[in-house]
Amino acid sequence: MTVRPRRSELATPASNEWMFAKAAASGADLVFLDLEDAVAPAEREGSRAKAAAALRDLDWGRTARAVRINGIDTRWAHGDVIEVVTGAREALDVIIVPKVRRARDVWWVDVLLTQLEDTLGLRKRVALEVLIEETEGLQNVDEIARASERLEAIIFGAGDFSASQGARVDTNFDPVVDYPGDLWHYARARVVVAARAAGIDAIDAPFPNFRDPDAYRVACERAAAMGYTGKWAIHPSQVELANAAFAPTPDEIAHARKVVAAYREAEASGRGATGLDGMLVDAAHLRHADNITRTAELFGL
Ligand code: GLV
Ligand code: MG
Repeated sequence: MTVRPRRSELATPASNEWMFAKAAASGADLVFLDLEDAVAPAEREGSRAKAAAALRDLDWGRTARAVRINGIDTRWAHGDVIEVVTGAREALDVIIVPKVRRARDVWWVDVLLTQLEDTLGLRKRVALEVLIEETEGLQNVDEIARASERLEAIIFGAGDFSASQGARVDTNFDPVVDYPGDLWHYARARVVVAARAAGIDAIDAPFPNFRDPDAYRVACERAAAMGYTGKWAIHPSQVELANAAFAPTPDEIAHARKVVAAYREAEASGRGATGLDGMLVDAAHLRHADNITRTAELFGL
């Protein structure tokens, strides 16, 4: 599995070619050209070629190039995969599969991709990310998380999920009443635990209210605190906020390096724990510190 940065995943409708150049230059870790819900049904088939051409022809720098296909219970899914992979070839890094309900939904895409890669003689395997945004998908998230070796991340989709659950929310998917705590805590926790147990990333939901950067930052920080790797951005202005919130801070990195050094020193003298700035440092602290230093390296920090 390729380990790649995923602090920000920017959504861009595949029908809207005029947005592509800005998305490619947005600095997002991943951009996905959307063939699903951001595109009018009549435009979906015609948007496939636009997406493939943009993936192939634009300069995406270090941004991972993705497409969100239509759900496998629609008539578009197989055409989306075949047309985009055939057109984009190695310029496509990731396919995002929405509304996944069971492991077999992921297998279906995996098998189709394997046949296509073979037929086209591709040198690179397309990776997968799935959206958990149906109550049935959340119930089956553990088996979904392990359904394919291509799977690199699970995304929590609060928009469709709230509809699937019948929750009463506003257009930002927040509860319409003063609900104590986070209405989506259970779903978020379930997704991140399933993803981590399978050794893959968890990505937090879209945040439609792009005119409220402070609230978006808080949402990013809360998701990061839970162990999420990144969050969707539905507007280029959200990218920088997510990139900052999901990266370790210079203080965290410096502290992590001190913890590693202190622990190694203790280990060399036959001890399993030591003290640092008046605090205990043991093997659990080393794991946290390793998480931070590995993430920092991934982002070149
Ligand atoms: C994303 O697709 C969502 O429904 O939140
Ligand atoms: Mg959705």
